[in-house]
Amino acid sequence: MATLAELCRTRTGLGEDDVAHLQDLTGSWALLADLSFADLLLYAPETDELESPLVLLGHVRPTTGTTLYRADLVGQVFRRSRRPLIAECLDEKRIVEGSIHVGVDRDIALKVVPVRRGDETIAVLARERHRPGDRPMSEQERTYLSVFDRFALMLDRGEFPYRDEERFRHRTPRVGDGLLLVDREGRIEFASPNAVSVMHRMGMHRAVVGARLDDSGLGPETLRSAFAKRTSVIEEVVRGTETTVVSHCLPLFDEGRATGAIVLVRDVTDLRRRDRLLVSKDATIREVHHRVKNNLQTISSLLRLQARRLTSDEARAAVGESVRRIGAISVVHEALAQSADHDVSFTEIVKPLVRVVEESVSMPERPLHFEVTGDAGILPAQVTTTLAVVVTELIQNAVDHAFVGSFAPEDGSPGRVEVSLDRRPDVLVIDVVDDGIGLPDDFDLSDATGLGLTLVRTFVEVELGGTISLRQGDDDGTVAEVRIPSSRLVSPLDDARDPRA
Ligand SMILES: Nc1ncnc2c1ncn2[C@@H]1O[C@H](COP(=O)(O)OP(=O)(O)O)[C@@H](O)[C@H]1O
Ligand SMILES: [Mg+2]
Repeated sequence: MATLAELCRTRTGLGEDDVAHLQDLTGSWALLADLSFADLLLYAPETDELESPLVLLGHVRPTTGTTLYRADLVGQVFRRSRRPLIAECLDEKRIVEGSIHVGVDRDIALKVVPVRRGDETIAVLARERHRPGDRPMSEQERTYLSVFDRFALMLDRGEFPYRDEERFRHRTPRVGDGLLLVDREGRIEFASPNAVSVMHRMGMHRAVVGARLDDSGLGPETLRSAFAKRTSVIEEVVRGTETTVVSHCLPLFDEGRATGAIVLVRDVTDLRRRDRLLVSKDATIREVHHRVKNNLQTISSLLRLQARRLTSDEARAAVGESVRRIGAISVVHEALAQSADHDVSFTEIVKPLVRVVEESVSMPERPLHFEVTGDAGILPAQVTTTLAVVVTELIQNAVDHAFVGSFAPEDGSPGRVEVSLDRRPDVLVIDVVDDGIGLPDDFDLSDATGLGLTLVRTFVEVELGGTISLRQGDDDGTVAEVRIPSSRLVSPLDDARDPRA
């Protein structure tokens, strides 16, 4: 669906400043819909011509009442004759009220307000609600509707939306969270039941209505600052040990004079407590990874010391291999300690793994060239450690077995070891490819008894539910291919997370 800005640019003659003004309006008009328990629709003429059709630029439904519109009509164009009250408001540049008859028995009450920027009426805002009928209105309803009317006048005079309003990352309070209406002296004239509860939690035990906003514990400067800056002010106040309340103060003006304000309040204590817990948990997990890495390095050093005292070559090689495997795991913990998340980009782990093996190659019979291609995407931490060991074994095998013996070309060209990563929708494919001497003739993976391939098979097949195969490469050399189904590559935490993050 087209955004408001796109609609304005492609379907109307509105300029950039007008578009920005309408964006400010739709950034805060959910409040107006809630205050009037009604749908709000924003129209602008397609062109400057007198009889120009009207484009519906935006629509917001109330969270405090039921909508009249199930369908989304934004972007549709209407002839003026089909929207006579809108046309009247545009032509006469004043607030128009009236009712229209739809269907057999439905009356809809309309209030149409010019949206003014400077001297121009750039659009109109229509409030559409069921005709209230004979049901008596509650005090709350009357108050909210009267506040809407004050905002409507401000809209008509170009005093709303506010200029330079702060934009916030987090959801600001809505009418349903709690609403206080204060007069220009800062005395509370009305408080919704939810607002009263919030004020009680803030430690205000006297009657809320009649009290001064300054005494409520909400920042005493809030109101003065909103009046002075002529824009809304958001504050977060902590009371006592942890009660946390967000307040959004929207000043009301009448031809430039401040006449009062509404203050939306929301108790965010639980949210903030959870934020703090999450932050400290993340830091703890990172710290643990860091310590695991340090411990692994200590173990490696101990083994290396031990190896130096061994006289048997076989024993020394065996300990050396263990040192290398531990090194692979410590690379993963190093990456996890640095990541802000519990998941890491596996490609960024393969690169240091390759480096670890590369550095272990001593006096090669032939120089080797290593390469990492493709992208494995983000993998959960548990999978990463296992897969890191697997990939290290396969690279090590290429180094150990592919380029041995008489195999050295006359031109001295380097041997090639490539790790190619391919994340497909259903599977992650990791190929470790070399252009060496190839597998022994009688090689059969199911009979392989070496520790390396045994580890690889167990990890891939049992722990990761995947498959592993070794085959001859296209020309020569060997391709070791690991395939892990995507179902095994999602973290159990994923469900709890925001899918858009
Ligand atoms: N890339 C490769 N090129 C040639 N031979 C290989 C390759 N990878 C594995 N092999 C063969 O598979 C055998 C088993 O490997 P592995 O289980 O890792 O044990 P190890 O590496 O200790 O010999 C190797 O000894 C070697 O003969
Ligand atoms: Mg091996």
